[in-house]
Amino acid sequence: MKALIACEYSRIVSDAFVAKGWDVTSCDILPSEKPGKHYQGDVFDIINDGYDLMIAFPPCTYLTVAANRHIPNNPDRWQKQVEALTFFYNLLNSNIKYIGIENPVGVVSTYIRKPDQIIHPYYFGDNIPKKTCLWLKNLPPLTYAMHDNLFETKTAVEPEYVYYNSKTTKSGKSKYSVLWKLGKGHGHERSKFHQGIATAMAEQWTEYILNNKN
Ligand SMILES: C[S@@+](CC[C@H](N)C(=O)[O-])C[C@H]1O[C@@H](n2cnc3c(N)ncnc32)[C@H](O)[C@@H]1O
Repeated sequence: MKALIACEYSRIVSDAFVAKGWDVTSCDILPSEKPGKHYQGDVFDIINDGYDLMIAFPPCTYLTVAANRHIPNNPDRWQKQVEALTFFYNLLNSNIKYIGIENPVGVVSTYIRKPDQIIHPYYFGDNIPKKTCLWLKNLPPLTYAMHDNLFETKTAVEPEYVYYNSKTTKSGKSKYSVLWKLGKGHGHERSKFHQGIATAMAEQWTEYILNNKN
């Protein structure tokens, strides 16, 4: 079975699917950071090449809640947001049977549709709290083992936060995901996907697709 992992240079998800026996092409306008079949260019050049599954990580720069703060009275930002939404919409509506698209919480929910699932990396073994939305076509939501906030099983771990002094909160502290410890200027590192969710996608969706093959 053929998988396209779109907008991925890290090959974290690609290699998780290779491990489950898929013929995987990763695609990004950037070069791949690891060996493997990679198309460096626009995903729409190859999207109709007969893939059974696509997982995509479209850029969120103009789609997040934070990005929306810069929108009022800024036609350049409006245009970039429309382009980003169109890119997302075209991925979601491409002619591939099984599709999963990842993005943070943002305007896709308002203008396209709400996500099918919202998860955090710490649900799947990485200690990072980060709301991660999944829009799914013909795929089930990922299952994870967590029960009433008691981390009783092997997949979920405690989330890790960092605290900074703040003048705007009552406690004098603001709480951030440990991911933000990297600081500004590390967008490339921060946008890499998380191994636990990648493994869960590969394991659960491969099994689902094999069981639903007709
Ligand atoms: C948020 S990052 C996702 C990174 C990914 N999670 C990873 O681990 O490699 C979005 C990526 O989309 C890529 N991108 C933007 N436009 C693209 C296009 N038209 N075709 C393919 N990739 C594109 C960017 O270069 C960027 O690497």
